[in-house]
Formats: sequence, structure tokens, C-alpha cells
Amino acid sequence: MLIEIPDVLTPDELRQCRDLLQQASWQDGRQTAGHIAARAKDNQQLAQDDPLAEQLSSFLLGRLGSVSRFVAAALPLKVLPPRFNRYTGAGSYGPHIDNAIFSVPGTPLRVRGDLSATLFFSDPDEYDGGELMIEGEFGRHSVKLPAGHMVVYPASTIHQVTPVTRGVRLAAFFWIQSLVREGNRRAMLLDLDDTIQAIAAQRPDDHAVVRLTGLYHNLLRDWAVT
Ligand code: NI
Repeated sequence: MLIEIPDVLTPDELRQCRDLLQQASWQDGRQTAGHIAARAKDNQQLAQDDPLAEQLSSFLLGRLGSVSRFVAAALPLKVLPPRFNRYTGAGSYGPHIDNAIFSVPGTPLRVRGDLSATLFFSDPDEYDGGELMIEGEFGRHSVKLPAGHMVVYPASTIHQVTPVTRGVRLAAFFWIQSLVREGNRRAMLLDLDDTIQAIAAQRPDDHAVVRLTGLYHNLLRDWAVT
């Protein structure tokens, strides 16, 4: 399941993030890739201990908790601190698959990457290329969202970023360990959640809304691993 989440950031927040990223000290992205992924990778990243990256990262982590669509779709248990990348000058990241397990810097914590997320800081008209291509169950999806929007997709997919042939593409990317590991179960819970909201909007006093909400929570109780 691939979920696009609009307006994760307000225009003000977006402007502040972009201002900071423009002054950042970008490094060769190959430094953080495993040796197979490094062959495919040609971009820039902020070092994880870069104070600016840490500041932006903790701001985004706080922000994500209040994005209800993200919480409903990802059912996050643990979220890796977001990292930041920059593609320009025909930079790209060829087809690869993300690591399964990540360490949280400065802690003994480890996170299983169930879901990958990309939050766009550049608008599509600011650069050519730079599509995030995801090879899913139903073929290849090309994702290029407005600044401030985010895509969440299964970390188990092969994906790539096509060459940025004009302009600059700035983004944050991170991984999520979900309370519900199985993607089909997450998709059903999200569908049920959406259905409940749709019924509740039309018939808020219908007892069926209470029963369906109970069903949602009981399924989550059965499937969630904390
Ligand atoms: Ni990746």
C-alpha cells in the first residue's frame, strides 16, 4: 500500500525547514549506504550528528505525531529520526532495497523498517526528474509530490530516485516500525477507519458506529505487537 499524505507541514514550517536546509553542509550520500547500495547512490545527505539535521529531525518527529493520516495509515510503534537528502546535477539513486534493521543513533534501540517515508521539501516545478519510482505488487508507481507532502510505502519494495537533470530536490526520508507488521492488515484497518469516519459523519448517533469502532480496536488489539 502506498499512501500519499498531503500538507504534513504548513507553508511557514516548510519555509523554515527549507531555509535551514539551504545553509546546511551536505555530504556525499555514499558514506551512509551499505556497499551494494553505495554503487547505486549518487546524492548528498546531512550527517546524522549534524546539529541542524538533529534540530530538523526532532521537529519533524514531533510534527508527525499530530498528522492523523500518518498515524492511521502507519500505526507507528517506532519512527527513525528523519534524515535529509539533496539531489542535483543528474544525481540519482538507482534501484535498491532499504535495510531491514536500523540503529537509533546514540541509543541501544533498533528499529525494523516496515515502512519507508519521503517528505518532499521541493515543489515538482523546481526540478526535472527526481521521481521516486516504487515497484509494488501492481507495477511501478512514480511519485513526485508538492513540497510539504509525504509518501509512505512498504520498505520491502525495490525503489529508486531518477536523475535530477535540472534544479534541486530536497527531501526528508525515514523508516517506521509499525504496531501491525503485516501490510494487508494495516490496509484493512485503514479502510475500516475511513469507513467508520464516513458513516459517523452522516449518522453520528448511530449505534453501529460504536460497534464498528469496537471492532476496529479489537482487531488492533489482536494484531498489534508493542
Ligand atoms: Ni531507499
